Formats: sequence, C-alpha cells, structure tokens
Amino acid sequence: GRLSVRDALRAQHTSGERVKVQGWIRSVRSQKEVLFLHINDGSSLESLQIVADASFDCRELAFGSSVEVQGQLVKSPAKRQNVELKAENITVIGNCDAKAFPIKYKERHPLEYLRQYPHLRCRTNVLGSILRVRSEATAAIHSFFKDRGFVHIHTPVITSNDCEGAGELFQVEASSKIKAPEGNFFDVPTFLTVSGQLHLEVMSGAFAQVFTFGPTFRAENSQSRRHLAEFYMVEAEISFIENLQDLTQIMEDLFKSTAMMVLSNCPEDVELCHKFLAPGKKDRLEHMLKNNFLIISYTEAVEILKKASQNFTFTPEWGADLQTEHEKYLVEHCGNIPVFIINYPLALKPFYMRDNEDGPQHTVAAVDLLVPGVGELFGGSLREERYHFLEQQLARSGLTEAYQWYLELRRFGSVPHGGFGMGFERYLQCILGVDNIKDVIPFPRFTHSCLL
Ligand code: 4AD
Ligand code: MG
Repeated sequence: GRLSVRDALRAQHTSGERVKVQGWIRSVRSQKEVLFLHINDGSSLESLQIVADASFDCRELAFGSSVEVQGQLVKSPAKRQNVELKAENITVIGNCDAKAFPIKYKERHPLEYLRQYPHLRCRTNVLGSILRVRSEATAAIHSFFKDRGFVHIHTPVITSNDCEGAGELFQVEASSKIKAPEGNFFDVPTFLTVSGQLHLEVMSGAFAQVFTFGPTFRAENSQSRRHLAEFYMVEAEISFIENLQDLTQIMEDLFKSTAMMVLSNCPEDVELCHKFLAPGKKDRLEHMLKNNFLIISYTEAVEILKKASQNFTFTPEWGADLQTEHEKYLVEHCGNIPVFIINYPLALKPFYMRDNEDGPQHTVAAVDLLVPGVGELFGGSLREERYHFLEQQLARSGLTEAYQWYLELRRFGSVPHGGFGMGFERYLQCILGVDNIKDVIPFPRFTHSCLL
C-alpha cells in the first residue's frame, strides 16, 4: 500500500521495510554516485529524503513533478532526519515544466506574489503550513465544543433575514434560465447569511448550548487586510447565561484551548509561520496564552483614547464606533494582551442586544474582543430575552413585522442567553502572525476578485 510522507518519517521499523511513497518533488540534487530527492505530499511540512543510485535516469525529475517511489525505509546517516527511502524504483507520474512553473525551487516568494496563483500556491511550504494549521484549528474548535457538551447545528446559508442589520447582503436568485412555477423561486427576497446567530438562538431554546462553524458572507466594499466577502465564523449560543463575564470566559477558553491544541499537533507548521511571517513577534502568541485577557468598558476605552487623541485621524468620542486605529491603540495600551470591550452604546449595536437600563448613556450588554495584529476578533452579547424590551427594539429598527417569529421565542419559555461569533480567518492571522487575511483561506473572495 501507499505510505504517506508523514508516516514514513515516523516509521519505527526502518530495517529494510519495503514501501511505496507518492508525492511531489521539492528538490533534486545529484552527486557523482548518488541522487538525492526530497518529496512532499502535504501530510507534513518535512519532506522525505529519497536516495537513489546515480544511474537512475533523472532527466524528468524536476522540481514540481509528481513521482512514485518504491524502496526500503532505512535509518538515515544524516543528522536532520531519522529515516530516508532507499529507492529501488522511481516513476514520474506527471512531469513539471520547471521553467514555466511560477513557483521556483529554493526561492522564497512573497505572499503577494503567490496570491496570483491560487491553484498553485498550496504547493509551497508556507501555504502548506498555514493550511495544515487551518485544518488542525478546525478540528480543535469542534472538539472544544464537543468536550463541553455543545450541540453542533448546521445553520442555513440561504436566509431571508439580515441578522446584523448592516445591509451588507449578497442577494440570492435562481439563474434566469430557471423558470419557477410562478414568480420568484422563493417568495421572499433571500440572501447569503451574514451570521447564523438568529438560527442558533432558535436552537438554544431546545439545546441549552449550541454552536455553528460555517461560511458567512458580507458584501463589504473593502480592500482591507482583515475583510473578506466570504469568511468562516465560529458562533456559539448559550442559554441561562446571565452576565458578560461568563461569556468572556468561554471566548477566552476557546481562543486559548484551540491555540494549545494546534501547538501540540503541528508545532513545526506554527514555527515556520512565526519564523517567516512574523519575525520578532515569535513570543506574541505565548504572551497571549499565558496572560489573563483584560476587560474594560466602552466608556473607559473612550476615556483612554481621548487622552491620546493627538495620535488619531478620527477623534475618539463617546457614541462613535471604534476605528481600526483606536483598536490598535487600545491593544498596545493593554500591553498586547487581548482585551474585551464591554457595554457599548445602544445606538451603535443591532436590535437583539440586551438593554443595560443604565440611564442617559444607555448601553447594551455587548462585547468585542480586540487582539494584537488584527483588532476585532470576536463580537458577542447577551440577547434581549424580555418580550417588551425586544418589542421596543424591533419597533425602533423598523423590524417588527419581519421578526415576529423571533419575538415569539420570548413568549414561549424565554431564558436569559448570550453568544458570540469569532472570525476564523482573523483568528488564524492572530495566532500565526499573518498580515493579510487573503493568505489564511484557500480561495479568498473580496471586492473585484473571485479567482477560480
Ligand atoms: O461582529 P460580528 O458582525 O458579529 C456577528 O455577526 C454576531 N451576530 C455574531 C454572534 O454573536 N453570533 O462578526 C463576528 C466576527 C468579527 O468580530 C470578525 O472577527 C469576523 O466575524 N468578521 C469578518 N471576518 C472577515 N471578513 C469580514 N468581512 C468579517 N466581518 C466580520
Ligand atoms: Mg462586530
């Protein structure tokens, strides 16, 4: 059978075991009497060294070619690896025209360059590491929730509501070739989801702890390094939760436990990212993991910003949204420890957040987590579970009619509850030190760009 490179590298019994390994050539080096190849199949960062007799016809053995190698796994004399494969037979499966191949042997291409080749960039070490970490982090997030008894819910991608009320919707229609029996395919306007929250809230009325982890879409007209039109969001909703501190604790645990699991399952990949992408910031992750995250109120945050207002293009003011430059300053002010900002003005937030009833300032029980290098990573809140408060909020937002079903949840066994959403790509950016969000998703979609 076929042995993956990862399993070959971990093989214990190296005394002459015959195996078959398949992969892509990462390097070719021929000496007088021996030929060295390194092949990689994406199962690990490290490639497997193949040692062959120089008499092999190696004209087709170019960087990028796919090959199958049969031979014996033996203990390697080299210091850098335990095992190597003594080739008895090497077959080129598909050769690679190295001159035309946009990825060059031994060259460290900048990420901006690689972005032009979404169909090929996954063959580089750096994208390989990022995408393996992405896969490990996905599994870690699922096991985090499973270990705590959360039920996983598939929330819909097509929906008729705009959860965040920001109007950043992609509309969904059947292709014009399809003739629905009468009128439109769905009888109401439909969109790609901007958040699974409202559907999770429905489910939290039956399962006290639920989560979803799926694609989310926002027609954000932004070329920023932290916005995508299609991104993945991890969302949780918890019933019977009564204060923001309990919610922030789960957010902090999710952040830390996922990072720890990634660090223990693919340390080499994390190390490669830190070394090449965030030099000098190597300790940033460790710093975040060993300190307790901080909590400050929106009002305190504005006070801090006002004292430093000479640093900003946008003057900080109570009642205004925090700008990117403000978020950056606050995180630095907090010693690069992630910081929760809680209790935002009601006027800044969507209809579903719980009213704090705190007099003229009038805030809601909202929470954002700001992290180094990225800014806002999580958004969450306690939800308004009281019928009459919610009724007022819906009226204020002109949503009374559309959200009757949501209001109804408050009539049939309503409970205090709250939840949050974490941008998965921003999370990867934060733990790996990747500057641009387009490099942590296999196929980025953003304004004017939907390659492949
Ligand atoms: O703060 P947001 O808009 O919160 C919600 O959608 C809530 N309904 C979630 C909930 O409570 N269940 O989005 C949550 C997070 C942001 O903090 C950010 O990390 C990420 O989603 N995010 C984006 N990531 C990449 N590209 C975009 N265009 C993003 N918009 C939001
Ligand atoms: Mg937000």
